[in-house]
Amino acid sequence: MNPSKNQRSWPFLPGRAMEIVRAEGAYLHTSKGQAILDAAGGAIVVNVGHGRERVAKAVYQATKDTSYVVPPWLTPSRRAMVDALSDWLPSELTRVHATSGGSEANEAAIKMAVQYQSAVGRPEKTKVISRDLSYHGTTLATTSASGHPGRRKGLERAIESWPFSPTPYPLRCPLGRHHPDTGRWYVDALRQHILDEGSDNVAAILAEPITDSSGGAIVPPDDYWPGVRRLCDEFNLVLILDEVMTGFGRTGRDFGHQHWPITPDILVSGKGLAGGYAPLGGVFGTEAIG
Ligand SMILES: Cc1ncc(COP(=O)(O)O)c(C=O)c1O
Repeated sequence: MNPSKNQRSWPFLPGRAMEIVRAEGAYLHTSKGQAILDAAGGAIVVNVGHGRERVAKAVYQATKDTSYVVPPWLTPSRRAMVDALSDWLPSELTRVHATSGGSEANEAAIKMAVQYQSAVGRPEKTKVISRDLSYHGTTLATTSASGHPGRRKGLERAIESWPFSPTPYPLRCPLGRHHPDTGRWYVDALRQHILDEGSDNVAAILAEPITDSSGGAIVPPDDYWPGVRRLCDEFNLVLILDEVMTGFGRTGRDFGHQHWPITPDILVSGKGLAGGYAPLGGVFGTEAIG
């Protein structure tokens, strides 16, 4: 027998979910008439504010004009998105793939990195090294790549043991708090992980430029990312930067990695890309990899 209407509950807070009936600007409005300041923009998603008429009209127009067209074909809204992205993306990242969110975008980036290694004659390069404090999504592969015990709980036997290198954490560096050699220590630790896994087996490094969803904005030392980029070049590894949270202006630059003089081979986005107005993620690659 089907449960009656009032027996069903919203899964997160059974029986006591708060109801949001309207959202505008930076505020959420509840069914009880309260206004709540949504200072974080949901899960760091709503980069342009709630309820913007211009965005709603564009979504209406896009769905009315071309509700669905198979991915290889261009539509006016796809063309407009690619053109708009040109103002944001680093010039090296010329290839644009759309997904339905950040998890799927990371999943696609992992597949692209492994397929790229295979295509250039390095098929044994299949491992992806991520970091011990990290979150990259909800799929099985991205859960395998996420060093987040709470989100792996109950799945340990279903996911794979992917290698983790330590997340650069100046406050907890084994050399001491904010030690001047912190960046070098973490780059050396990553080098050791690559060697331990066998550099011929490693396809890619996957990481957030600034550790957010699993660490609350942990900024690495300035020499960390240039050091990681050098390791990727030395060992032919694809550098995948997960900018699902740090992308599209969240850290004061267009993308979080732009605080340092580096460019990833694949940049992954979600959240702010569509600001919560549509389920959308993006994988942006170089000519060679994308
Ligand atoms: C860094 C990071 N990567 C990936 C994801 C997954 O994105 P989505 O929830 O759009 O699948 C998130 C979501 O919180 C995230 O913060």
